[in-house]
Amino acid sequence: MNKIEIACLPGDGVGIEVMASAKQVLQKAADMHGGVQFSMTDFPWGSDHYIETGAMMPEDGIERLKEFDAVFLGAVGNPAVVPDHISLWGMLIKIRRELELSLNVRPARLIKGIQSPLRSPKDFDLIVVRENSEGEYSEAGGVIHNGQNEIAVQNGIFTRKATERAMRYAFELARTRGKKVTSATKSNGIVHSMPFWDRVFQETAKDYPDIETSSAHIDALSAFFVTKPESFDVIVASNLFGDILTDIGSAVMGSIGIAPSANLNVEGTYPSMFEPVHGSAPDIAGQGKANPIGQIWTAKMMLDHLGYTDLGQAILDATEEVTESGIKTADIQGTSSTEEVTQAILSTLQKKG
Ligand code: NAI
Ligand code: MG
Repeated sequence: MNKIEIACLPGDGVGIEVMASAKQVLQKAADMHGGVQFSMTDFPWGSDHYIETGAMMPEDGIERLKEFDAVFLGAVGNPAVVPDHISLWGMLIKIRRELELSLNVRPARLIKGIQSPLRSPKDFDLIVVRENSEGEYSEAGGVIHNGQNEIAVQNGIFTRKATERAMRYAFELARTRGKKVTSATKSNGIVHSMPFWDRVFQETAKDYPDIETSSAHIDALSAFFVTKPESFDVIVASNLFGDILTDIGSAVMGSIGIAPSANLNVEGTYPSMFEPVHGSAPDIAGQGKANPIGQIWTAKMMLDHLGYTDLGQAILDATEEVTESGIKTADIQGTSSTEEVTQAILSTLQKKG
């Protein structure tokens, strides 16, 4: 029996509710498989921990997480009592940086039974691979002088290592999917880093002759995400461009409550971290209304990463069967509770298994 050690960090607000749902689904998937055991250890870190101790997580928190095969996180933030910059930097961003999670991967696809804001969406299924460690989000630069003489300089950092790492990951991923990679560029306006980005893309593509490639400027690409999302398979993007594209991706799916994400340590030096795109939703926390699908789909991404793609697919198929049957939370035009949706997914999994 394979034993997988998962560190579970429910965090705050609805994070706690959707984590409880996803853990049950993971447990059910393992029971059905028979050959794998998920050992899930809870760490009650977050805003309450901050109020009690003055820190979002203990000092040795990161070291403890390094012992696990994967980190599964709910959401962090309780802005009524802890300022957001403290909660996010004290936990989420700390984990992303210290575990060297250099890629952020976010799929977007049309889910049966969930209304997209697009008027007549075709069956899209895309995935954005975002470079997550450098690019436009760099600390290089500064502000000098005052008043009318004030000057702000913000430098983008693009290393060959990180650029190529993101692109190779995108190509490898495309091999398992639709065999197409689109590169998000802006070499007509950003004249140093983006021509470099294009050059690395062309060079890397030579190692993947089986994959169809294209490049699109980020402005046009953003529009295409709305007008023809079905034309994309894998998209590779820099930190800023990927940030923007993935928000459009979750928007066209229909609710932030269903969007999943993976923060990957590609080298495997430390565990990767998996979290839904949404935050702690204080406006609906504690009311049993949270959509658990974002966290459950995130569990599927974690299973894919750990090599249990069959289990991941079973979870997503069961989820889609449930949304198609109309058992949905309020954010996707349903009337069911978190618990009702969770139970429906569990029994669908059971039926299929
Ligand atoms: P949010 O994602 O928590 O909520 C935005 C809107 O989406 C709200 O109307 C909320 O009710 C709804 N929503 C979110 N998740 C949902 C779900 N599972 N089911 C149904 N509806 C859902 O973003 P907001 O309000 O800007 O931030 C709230 C707190 O969360 C803040 O402290 C913020 O810093 C934090 N945050 C944390 C993130 C993380 O842990 N990765 C990401 C985004 C925000
Ligand atoms: Mg964003």
